[in-house]
Amino acid sequence: MPGLRSVVAESLPAMTLPPGHRVLLSELGEAPLDAIAQHAALVAMPAPDPATLGERDVLIAIASASVGWVDLLMTSGQYQHPPKPPYTPGLEYAGTVVWRGAAAEGVELGDRVLVDGLLAGPRSLGDYQAWGGFASYGVAPIEAVHRVPGELSFDQACNLLGSYETAYHCLVTRGRLQPGETVLIHGASGSTGLAAVHLAKRLGARVIATGRSSEKLAVVKREGADHVIHTRGPDGALPFRDEVKALTGARGVDVVYDGVGGDVSVESLRCVRFGARYLIVGWAATPFVARGKGMRGAPNANQLPTNLIMMKGLDVLGCPTVISTIHDPSLRPPRLAYVLAWAAEGTLRPHISHVFPLAEFREAMQAKWRGDVIGGCVLRP
Ligand SMILES: NC(=O)c1ccc[n+]([C@@H]2O[C@H](COP(=O)([O-])OP(=O)(O)OC[C@H]3O[C@@H](n4cnc5c(N)ncnc54)[C@H](OP(=O)(O)O)[C@@H]3O)[C@@H](O)[C@H]2O)c1
Repeated sequence: MPGLRSVVAESLPAMTLPPGHRVLLSELGEAPLDAIAQHAALVAMPAPDPATLGERDVLIAIASASVGWVDLLMTSGQYQHPPKPPYTPGLEYAGTVVWRGAAAEGVELGDRVLVDGLLAGPRSLGDYQAWGGFASYGVAPIEAVHRVPGELSFDQACNLLGSYETAYHCLVTRGRLQPGETVLIHGASGSTGLAAVHLAKRLGARVIATGRSSEKLAVVKREGADHVIHTRGPDGALPFRDEVKALTGARGVDVVYDGVGGDVSVESLRCVRFGARYLIVGWAATPFVARGKGMRGAPNANQLPTNLIMMKGLDVLGCPTVISTIHDPSLRPPRLAYVLAWAAEGTLRPHISHVFPLAEFREAMQAKWRGDVIGGCVLRP
């Protein structure tokens, strides 16, 4: 590439980059709140020295890092992929390129980029696991770095891949959702739930979205859901089968996207059509399916009644996005291409309800844990 050497030679030396900060988790907690309160701290971070980086590396000044559900579960080792402490949380982040190695072709200094959380940061497997996004700087290999698509802000860009790739894996790869079908989306105000609402609408489906709060459901409706249903009243869980049946002409929905679990799952089996696809996405209502401090075991695992599954001829589909991709890497390129293209065209636009400075990482993680957030939550280093 013409001029490449001179661009690299002109890259900013480390000493001109100001020092920053990062969050460091010194050990895993019994539960995320315990980890955040007792084992997490904001520590000084010198600007990384490019002389120590590889020729395929990209150094990014982080503008925004997403605070996701997985970031929380990782702090107690209750996620299937626990990084070894001490580590810096932050699966997904976006920012500006401030240096790149000679072989890191495709980005230039000053480019606005987002980093793929499967190839760098705490969710990745190799040398880049140490570079979490709750920090002033991150280092990622060039294959993990994408230009921010379309008009997305940094806050939106760091909330793109994890949520929308999950929605794609569930609704498209596993759910085979077709235009004109009706999908029931639980946990629709959440990061992946709202992404699923956007994606289902992009695919031409009708969306019935559920949640427990009028305020959040109003946003979900504004973001594109055709109908919203409350699953929680003043006296506890509300049955929703009659409402769903009424909205589908007594037929039931074609697809269920279940990121909530527990009672909501069992009630859902009563409002599906014969032969529907039931997508198991997650367990927001019963998060402790593994023990704290990284101990395995699932004493609170969700259970579904097999009689209903059998008599309704249901396809119950487990949808672990990352694990499926490890087993079949060919799933990723088309998924990534569609998510980036639809974000570039402006039809997938992450909704962000909460933004915090890095120093308030505890408040940000607590807000996410309490369920205050609608869509994305962001830390700005
Ligand atoms: N399959 C995959 O590959 C994959 C990928 C990422 C995440 N996940 C899993 O999917 C689930 C959702 O993830 P997310 O990132 O969307 O989480 P999130 O942002 O925290 O959203 C979860 C939503 O669930 C709803 N909810 C309903 N009942 C709840 C309860 N009892 N407690 C807490 N929330 C409840 C909440 O909405 P209301 O307050 O409006 O009810 C909340 O907005 C999690 O279990 C996560 O681990 C799976």
